[in-house]
Amino acid sequence: MSEIQHTDPIIGQTFGNVVAKSILGRGGMGAVYLGHHPGLDMMVAIKLLPDLFVGKREMVERFLREARVSGRLQHPNIVRTLDVGRDHGVYYLVMEYVEGVDAQRLLDREGRFSPMRAVNIAGFVARALGEAHDQGVIHRDIKPANILIARDGKVKVTDFGLARSITNTATALTLSNQVVGTPNYMAPEQIKSMDVDARVDIYALGVTLWQFLTGALPFEGATPMAVLLNVVGEQLQMPKETFDTLPKELREAVVAMTAKDPRRRLPNIPAVLAVLKKARDALRAAGMDSTAPMPGAPVRASSPQVKSLSDTGVPRSQAVPPPRNDPQSFTKPLGSDVQPRPPQGNPRPGTPRPGGR
Ligand SMILES: Nc1ncnc2c1ncn2[C@@H]1O[C@H](COP(=O)(O)OP(=O)(O)O)[C@@H](O)[C@H]1O
Ligand SMILES: [Mg+2]
Repeated sequence: MSEIQHTDPIIGQTFGNVVAKSILGRGGMGAVYLGHHPGLDMMVAIKLLPDLFVGKREMVERFLREARVSGRLQHPNIVRTLDVGRDHGVYYLVMEYVEGVDAQRLLDREGRFSPMRAVNIAGFVARALGEAHDQGVIHRDIKPANILIARDGKVKVTDFGLARSITNTATALTLSNQVVGTPNYMAPEQIKSMDVDARVDIYALGVTLWQFLTGALPFEGATPMAVLLNVVGEQLQMPKETFDTLPKELREAVVAMTAKDPRRRLPNIPAVLAVLKKARDALRAAGMDSTAPMPGAPVRASSPQVKSLSDTGVPRSQAVPPPRNDPQSFTKPLGSDVQPRPPQGNPRPGTPRPGGR
């Protein structure tokens, strides 16, 4: 693996002002590298559009649009976009570097999250989405791989590569005859038509919360098409072994967020924050407020799709270490400052980490 790292021709190259240092992750669109900005003496993340897409106007447009859309969002729970450009033929997007790990990799490592931690992370993502939706932006690809958990516990949403402007549907780009999104997290209406609104993000966040709690993926299928058919045709199951052990408010939150019919789904982010708060209060009342890794949680092999998205080929030695603290709760009233507070007396010294890597 380390040879791959050394032979990666990107390492050491300069894009704009930024020198690529090592790979951080790979997704459907391109690769993201850790970079150094010498002028600012600052570490940044730099996303590159793969060569094979450069000739494709649609992909270039999509990439530039990601920059424009994310560039206008300023929120503590959204990765900040700093620059975009083209250098020796390569399109690049410079963003704030989040030192930590994405939630998919954390799930791969820990199996599943404690209910309180799951609800807390979902709460911060909801706040990020609240800002995006208020600015007229739908993310359209909410899933654990696009949720970054910083070492200090902050939660930041990244990858606005599929985002679209609610008010500017005329210029919405679609890949001809292709569904855009990640099958397991796509709302049925996103699969069936391009005419979607912010409720697709609420659905995807509901599926993400389901995955955080169960450690599994709903709507498994041998092929992406099989998954899509299941998403449209099958109810989201609420596994007894998970949900019967939790306060009913958690199940209610997931059910309300993932209704197949968007008209029956929670209509907006304030409604999502309200059910998440209820879930939190219920967990607290039940004494289930630990955010520590689940004791003995199985280290699951994820389904092939998710694996391929999260398996970035980063050598173990370079893999980002697990966060030291968990995301803090979002206990403040709605609309108040959304910055997570510093950890409050819930240290987990020596907590064993299942999987330990
Ligand atoms: N700002 C960042 N800081 C640290 N890691 C990042 C950052 N942005 C992305 N990553 C990592 O790179 C992966 C791919 O980035 P993403 O923007 O999701 O690309 P894609 O559009 O190809 O899915 C993420 O899942 C995450 O692990
Ligand atoms: Mg991604």
